[in-house]
Amino acid sequence: MLHFIHSLPKIELHLHIEGALEPEMMLKLSHANGIPIPYQNLQEIRRAYQFGDLQSFLDLYYAGASVLCKQEDFFELTWAYMLRCHQERVVHTEIFFDPQTHTMRGIPLETVVRGITQALKKAKEELGISSYLIACILRHLSEEEGMRTLEDLLDFRHEVIGIGLDSSEVGNPPSKFKNLFKRAKEEGFLLVAHAGEEGDSSYIQEALELGVCRIDHGVRCEESLELLEVLRSRRIPLTMCPLSNYALKVTPNLKNHNLLRLLRYGLCVTINSDDPAYFGGYMNANFEAIAQALHPAQDELRQLSLNALEASFLPLDQKKEIKALILEYS
Ligand code: HPA
Ligand code: ZN
Repeated sequence: MLHFIHSLPKIELHLHIEGALEPEMMLKLSHANGIPIPYQNLQEIRRAYQFGDLQSFLDLYYAGASVLCKQEDFFELTWAYMLRCHQERVVHTEIFFDPQTHTMRGIPLETVVRGITQALKKAKEELGISSYLIACILRHLSEEEGMRTLEDLLDFRHEVIGIGLDSSEVGNPPSKFKNLFKRAKEEGFLLVAHAGEEGDSSYIQEALELGVCRIDHGVRCEESLELLEVLRSRRIPLTMCPLSNYALKVTPNLKNHNLLRLLRYGLCVTINSDDPAYFGGYMNANFEAIAQALHPAQDELRQLSLNALEASFLPLDQKKEIKALILEYS
């Protein structure tokens, strides 16, 4: 099973690049850029990674991201993640970044986007991994602030394919960003949103009303049978993140995770790593954790990869090529 998972061609659709900042790089950049963080060494950082909920994680995640200052920092972070994709046979990835986390600290959007895309280009050329970039709007901030960020993103239309929504969910429902998503759609961006991670199923319903083509997480979709039927019949993808859900206590343990039940019910479920440096693992670790807890058949693991391909923003001809790769693999 381990061998099958490791060599299965995989597609990642829910990865925050700031969440791929490993403790070693965090310490190094903290010293290099003179940005203090409240930890002296790797052990102290790792010890801090005991989360009670989403907010307790976000507090550390934003503190960690503050060490990223220069274009080279964003390049180095992204390149390290792409090398990991290469090791784990991730053949295509759609990466989130949080523009506001950086622009609020005075880092120009251009510095962030250039650093990330430089690494993505190198990964395409040297590792053969394709990728897209999605800018997430921070939902704990106002729609007006998000709208200003969307306007800044118009300068990077060739680099950024889509707009997402992340950060503290409860109390910040998708409807808060109705005008922003309407504008983003008019500007030609593809839309996704985090929903149903800590927020109830109405958050998923509202995200669909914004016009999103994928739901990030969606764990709480079973609370509404009507919603479940919509997700199933329209094959709205859920980008689920098992180790993240476990770390943030969205699910008490992985044996109770609804991922396999939803897959068997016919939903377009996918496996992703979310913030791998914080939650204990990249793609293979997430597949392994589900395999160990829920014992899916090999065909079901392969189906998870096929679902991610279907849910990706790749053009049809590239989908066909990767589909053949996945199917020939057994
Ligand atoms: N949920 C909300 N916001 C986030 C997450 C998440 O899982 N990861 C990074 N920002
Ligand atoms: Zn996420």
